[in-house]
Amino acid sequence: MKKLTSSELRETYLQYFKSKGHSIISSSSLIPENDPSVLFTTAGMHPLVPYLLGESHPNGNRLCDVQKCIRTGDIDEIGDDTHCTFFEMLGNWSLGDYFKKDSIAFSFEFLTKVLEIPVEKIAVTVFEGDENAPRDEFSAGVWESLGIPKDRIFYLPKEHNWWISGEVGPCGPDTEIFIINDKKCDREDCSPACSCGKYVEIWNNVFMEFNKAADGSFEKLSQQNVDTGMGLERTICMLNGVKSVYETDFFSDAIELICKLSGKVYLSDESTTKSIRIIADHIRTATFILGDDKGITPSNMDQGYVLRRLIRRAVRHARVIGMEACGILEVSKCFIAKYASIYEELGRNSDKIIDELQKEIDRFSKTVENGLKEIEKVLKYVQNNALNGKTAFRLYDTFGFPLEMTVEICAENGVEVDVEGYHKSFAEHQLKSQKGAEQKFKGGLADSGEATTNLHTATHMLNACLKKVLGDDGIMQKGSNITAERLRFDFNFSRPLTPDEKIEIEVMMNDIIARKIDITCEEMTVEQAKEAGALGVFESKYGQLVKVYTIGDVSKEICGGPHASNTAELGVFKIKKEQSSSSGIRRIKGVLVK
Ligand code: SER
Repeated sequence: MKKLTSSELRETYLQYFKSKGHSIISSSSLIPENDPSVLFTTAGMHPLVPYLLGESHPNGNRLCDVQKCIRTGDIDEIGDDTHCTFFEMLGNWSLGDYFKKDSIAFSFEFLTKVLEIPVEKIAVTVFEGDENAPRDEFSAGVWESLGIPKDRIFYLPKEHNWWISGEVGPCGPDTEIFIINDKKCDREDCSPACSCGKYVEIWNNVFMEFNKAADGSFEKLSQQNVDTGMGLERTICMLNGVKSVYETDFFSDAIELICKLSGKVYLSDESTTKSIRIIADHIRTATFILGDDKGITPSNMDQGYVLRRLIRRAVRHARVIGMEACGILEVSKCFIAKYASIYEELGRNSDKIIDELQKEIDRFSKTVENGLKEIEKVLKYVQNNALNGKTAFRLYDTFGFPLEMTVEICAENGVEVDVEGYHKSFAEHQLKSQKGAEQKFKGGLADSGEATTNLHTATHMLNACLKKVLGDDGIMQKGSNITAERLRFDFNFSRPLTPDEKIEIEVMMNDIIARKIDITCEEMTVEQAKEAGALGVFESKYGQLVKVYTIGDVSKEICGGPHASNTAELGVFKIKKEQSSSSGIRRIKGVLVK
């Protein structure tokens, strides 16, 4: 087997497929376009969906790339040998060009000739067939003709050998390639479907000739595609004979640095090792999210919330192993240095990455400093290894200590948290102190005079009008700041607004004012609000009561208020300024003139 570094494997892979007529395309953003079903790009095929469905690709019908991916699953599970939240996927595609025979032959040649993996170490699976597609004897035959004996070709059902991203879209049966290691398994029927770890999957070739519709039916696509994916990290592990991705060059510099900054020794004991890996994994991922040109920053929503959790969990583990939180910045710089030559955006956005990390660390340290002390005290008096929901809620309510961290710290101490009880306490508290809760929800609107109240209503209207005028449902509020004089509204959009667009927004806003629309407010749980289609601009916990403000058919938002009671109270809306706020984020300053 060839021992390659990560850079060598990327290059070797791309060059091999280039020699087979593939165009090398660059990695797309980690934040998917036009795909509301996922927060992050989780596979190389994501950015290629339109082409798999039949659009023609500008670079031809044979493509290959190395795609940045994030799979968070449950972040709290990360820290073992194999899981990484960020990874790179090597992929090659045929868009209606070659199909099963060539795809399998390419993979076989690359693995056995280029990477020099002995044929005896390779096992494969193929689709066993069902009502949607026949048993894939064709692929099995190709494997056999290349030298894989029958007893290393396994037929498996849909749950193993059918690939689709999410619920609907292009999909099909696949053939998966496994490397066999020395692990012993007692099961007679041990196969790649067994969880013993003897078979490690490294490559998945999907034969995408179907489209799954929302009603669950499968129809044939207009073309037969191939979509393959090989995990870069996992393949490097296998080639270098190491057990864990953390023992490869992806992480070596960062782990050395974490050890230096904490004074700890990697692999000295299980819990230290886990913390070191969590810091390395989460900061690598956070660095890539912050470095992405989409301009995601820590927040309480969507990708921003995942980012926040990654950073905060890394900071907590830094604390556990005695590393200063600011060491996180050094770890991030180490990843920027490692990856910037491949992913230029990391270099371009390096100041922003470090700045945002610093800000989030500061915000979190304020929140947690007190909470951690308190939870240590609480743990001393816990009885029967159970922490009641009320106490967990008090940690959140009084110290802002997130429930997931309480659960995690308790679990490390063998204590179970009554999570249901926590949610119950949460809901009870909301009911009892509605007034108090409303005060908290006011957030940026501490001043609730007439001018700020009207501007707040105008902000909701603007949020809706921007989507309409710019024809972009993906436009989201990225920040809002209201004084008695003006509103300031940040939103994600990639270019300056044209003079015409600004006029159109003003006309639409003033039309809503002229329509004299009543503004209504209802209270409901956050789940009900989401179901009602309300936009949300801050974190809400399960069962929490929220207020939803509705402006006729114009807008519906979760918000603490206060708001005008009728749009007629607002006067005339004018845009004062439209400018860039940060990369990918525009900022509008607007006023209401009486
Ligand atoms: N889309 C398939 C996967 O993610 C192959 O690339 O496994």
